[in-house]
Amino acid sequence: MMNDKQSTERYAVVTGANKGIGFETVRQLAAAGVTVVLTARNEKRGTEATSLLHGLGYSNVQYHQLDVQDLQSIEALAKFIQTQFGKLDILVNNAGATGVVVDEDGLKALNIDPESWLSGKATNIVQGVMKTTYDKAKECLDTNYYGVKNLTRALLPLLQRSASGGRIVNVSSLRGELWRIPNEEIRKELADVETLSEEKIDGFVEKFLHDVRNDELEVNGWSKMLPAYSVSKAMLNAYTRVLAKTYKNMCINCVHPGYVDTDLNWHTGTLTLEEGAQGSVMLALLPEGGLTGCYFDRTQVAEF
Ligand SMILES: NC(=O)c1ccc[n+]([C@@H]2O[C@H](COP(=O)([O-])OP(=O)(O)OC[C@H]3O[C@@H](n4cnc5c(N)ncnc54)[C@H](OP(=O)(O)O)[C@@H]3O)[C@@H](O)[C@H]2O)c1
Repeated sequence: MMNDKQSTERYAVVTGANKGIGFETVRQLAAAGVTVVLTARNEKRGTEATSLLHGLGYSNVQYHQLDVQDLQSIEALAKFIQTQFGKLDILVNNAGATGVVVDEDGLKALNIDPESWLSGKATNIVQGVMKTTYDKAKECLDTNYYGVKNLTRALLPLLQRSASGGRIVNVSSLRGELWRIPNEEIRKELADVETLSEEKIDGFVEKFLHDVRNDELEVNGWSKMLPAYSVSKAMLNAYTRVLAKTYKNMCINCVHPGYVDTDLNWHTGTLTLEEGAQGSVMLALLPEGGLTGCYFDRTQVAEF
């Protein structure tokens, strides 16, 4: 049973929130009056980030450990939310991994301009400094796709207790936009929301990992730029649509945060954290009857 305070208060979980866009998303949600659970896989990094926010006056932020690749860790977080709050209003699946081994000095020396990164012109240039190994690709899919699915599954019963229907924000990337996938058949299948299912999406992920292992990415038409990352985000977008189709009373969307200056892109991004968190925060705070099953480029609806 929820007490009066719990039923009127809004509660949020943000993953991968010890730094970057996740950290700023926690700050902006806390500033909007939401009680936020800042989660991080590393306790030291998570508690330090939380202390920083407390120091800025955000006493409505709490830390809880969460490694989205670890089912026990997910289970422990779900139990914590259940015991402390009895419900959840907002889940921001923000944690992310790149899926590549990078020669950072080599990358810096290339001095690639933002326009080349975003347009795809940099694809061939970066091949010498970025390698997709099987282990890195697996880590990427386990974090950006299976991690989101496992956490969402564990928290859905609590989200469904939200008076406003619950909000899920899946932090995606323009790398997952369908037009970037060379294989036409995969593009078509992922675009057809009527026939999409979790099983079908899992099948694509497993096929991709099989192709990484067998060095068959290019021949089978997967993206050449950050292949695992691109696939993880395309599959995350597809999963978002399947979820939204199933849970019609909720607002479930995915968002490209913009090209933001963070560790994830080796600080090649141009937007500030404040700008980068705006899309996630807007979708987390959508009013009742707000859009669902959509992909946003920052705060604007865009094509999948
Ligand atoms: N920056 C951009 O331009 C950009 C563009 C498009 C999309 N995105 C997306 O935005 C999201 C946030 O990225 P960011 O740019 O803010 O990068 P970031 O500063 O590197 O933050 C990534 C966060 O994810 C966490 N993380 C990684 N694996 C995890 C796991 N297994 N369990 C829990 N947390 C984990 C990291 O924790 P540790 O500190 O412990 O490693 C870190 O807190 C990602 O989903 C990313 O794909 C970013």
